Amino acid sequence: MSGRRRVTVQTLLAMKRKGEKIVMLTAYDFQTAMLEDRAGIDVILVGDSLGMVVLGYENTLPVTMEEVIHHLRGVTRARPGALVVGDLPFMTYQSSSVDAVRNAGRLVKEGGAEAVKLEGGRRMEPVLRAILDADIPVMGHIGLTPQSVHHFGGYRVQGREEKSAARLVDEARFLEEVGCFAMVLEGIPWQLARQISGAVAIPCIGIGAGPYCDGQVLVVNDLLGMNDEFTPRYVKRYANIGQQMLDAFDSYIRDVRAGEFPDIDHSYSQD
Ligand code: KIV
Repeated sequence: MSGRRRVTVQTLLAMKRKGEKIVMLTAYDFQTAMLEDRAGIDVILVGDSLGMVVLGYENTLPVTMEEVIHHLRGVTRARPGALVVGDLPFMTYQSSSVDAVRNAGRLVKEGGAEAVKLEGGRRMEPVLRAILDADIPVMGHIGLTPQSVHHFGGYRVQGREEKSAARLVDEARFLEEVGCFAMVLEGIPWQLARQISGAVAIPCIGIGAGPYCDGQVLVVNDLLGMNDEFTPRYVKRYANIGQQMLDAFDSYIRDVRAGEFPDIDHSYSQD
């Protein structure tokens, strides 16, 4: 286990009460989880975004339980002090409460997650109650929920109009009432995110939801600048790792082709 104090769901609730910002970041492998934990990230999310950034799917819908568990295992082997949350993939919980409990249980039992995340509000009530009744902590997720991409007709900011904003406030209150320990607010106007964060006692973690949430989450590949094809407005790049990787690959190719690598310094010799 890393030398850090262990972050639990109670830690996050206390952070909200004290007005301390919660920092959450995705990770999909052992080494990234080690580094995130060493840096002091509070919550590591093994998100279904792994389908797009690790596996190259067009959206998150094809992601399977096996894929999430595989990546969760890599992350939890780093034994981070950060709270590790596993994302329930599309159609592993919408189908029935029985499926939902079984799959949430698999993320905990087989993947080592300490909590699960799922998308949706009121209409997920039976599913949420069933998972919570099994004593598995749940993080809600409302707003621009990527698993509803076809229903939304694309990745569109939600809650811009009065009626849909009021609905999202109601959904957030419901997630608190039902017993979620936190929720992600994704792709909503900052004014609405501020209103929701002030209306509930559980932490609201924003992504594309402005500065007034109780915390922030980003996809680690976006933060590191791994992909320069498209950067959504809400992403801040803290590095340009994609370019650094390209430069390193270029140098390697040049060295090998020129016979400059490996040299004797990088070789074994006989006794
Ligand atoms: O899958 C994911 O990475 C997520 C975050 C963007 C919140 O759900």
